[in-house]
Amino acid sequence: MTKKVLVLPGDGIGPEVVAEAAAVLDCLRTDYGLAVELEYGLVGGAAYDVHGLPLPEETVRLAHEADAVLLGAVGGHQWESLPIALRPEKALLGLRATLGVFANLRPAVLYPQLASASSLRADVVAGLDIMIVRELTGGIYFGEPRGVRTLANGERQGFNTLVYSESEIERVAVRAFEIARTRARKVCSVDKANVLEATELWREVVTRVAGRYPDVTLAHMYVDNAAMQLVRAPKQFDVIVTTNMFGDILSDEAAMLTGSIGMLPSASLNETGRGLYEPIHGSAPDIAGQGVANPLATILSVAMMLRYSLEEPILAGRVEQAVGAVLDQGLRTADIQREGQPRVTTGEMGEAVVAALRARLS
Ligand code: IPM
Ligand code: MG
Repeated sequence: MTKKVLVLPGDGIGPEVVAEAAAVLDCLRTDYGLAVELEYGLVGGAAYDVHGLPLPEETVRLAHEADAVLLGAVGGHQWESLPIALRPEKALLGLRATLGVFANLRPAVLYPQLASASSLRADVVAGLDIMIVRELTGGIYFGEPRGVRTLANGERQGFNTLVYSESEIERVAVRAFEIARTRARKVCSVDKANVLEATELWREVVTRVAGRYPDVTLAHMYVDNAAMQLVRAPKQFDVIVTTNMFGDILSDEAAMLTGSIGMLPSASLNETGRGLYEPIHGSAPDIAGQGVANPLATILSVAMMLRYSLEEPILAGRVEQAVGAVLDQGLRTADIQREGQPRVTTGEMGEAVVAALRARLS
């Protein structure tokens, strides 16, 4: 049956990188017989400019009808002064919530060809392969009550709520253990159980889930230590499972270990495997429209989509190999370029990946 993919280019460099990823999907359709149909929708600032809302009803409907959603990025300076509810970022949170994509998979993989791009010593990061599983639809991002109130003395007070129920913790922990089984069978759960009751419960529930996975080793780490260990000895980690906000922070840190945030994809999955796929870099408005953005994170997000939502693990591997092949050819966009290496544009990088895919076919 033909699978439906909703494509949401969004803002900034989103449309540029998504165009290259869509070309990869097109190539898989025409040359590899992948039964997929692409539909397009508006999200973020692009949607606000047309509909006055960052996440229009139409986009929500299309997202629910699709088997997977490919999103570029949202946000830009021109929308920064809007009220929070109308900001492009709100669309991202709204999409995550409406699709129920509670498990956010953020791999931090160091491509051997890019070892010199990391700010850490090559021996510290060589062979790095971490999977961060970030809880995505709960915690302090969504907890109520929230807001800014005025106290009796006239002073304003901002407040948010960190809240996790057992079932929310359990389902994301299960995902992390299942993924660990396909890897090095190690899970590190990151919390702040020494201070925050909500994460004391987190630790208890993750430990309980671990009982069902005797073949996987579980460790616990406080988030401050985890942040330190990620730069001290990152290769000790296999799968990290953590809360929404800790995962937000640690995944940026882990991304930088690999040298370029322009290389890293992500998948956000619900119970049924439906997913939202996006590069982890943002909309980078400063370089938008110049053809300098790296499309590989979005192309690798397509690979994750093939693996997790479209049940095409072989094609997923092909896309990843094609990305490896263009790096072997020495092609570099500005973000991963080193002295003496030829620099290619967004479009040239995308074309090279498609060419590498075609070459594997012949
Ligand atoms: C991310 C981003 C988002 C988040 C923002 C844009 C809302 O930082 O996906 O990591 O905090 O989740
Ligand atoms: Mg973030």
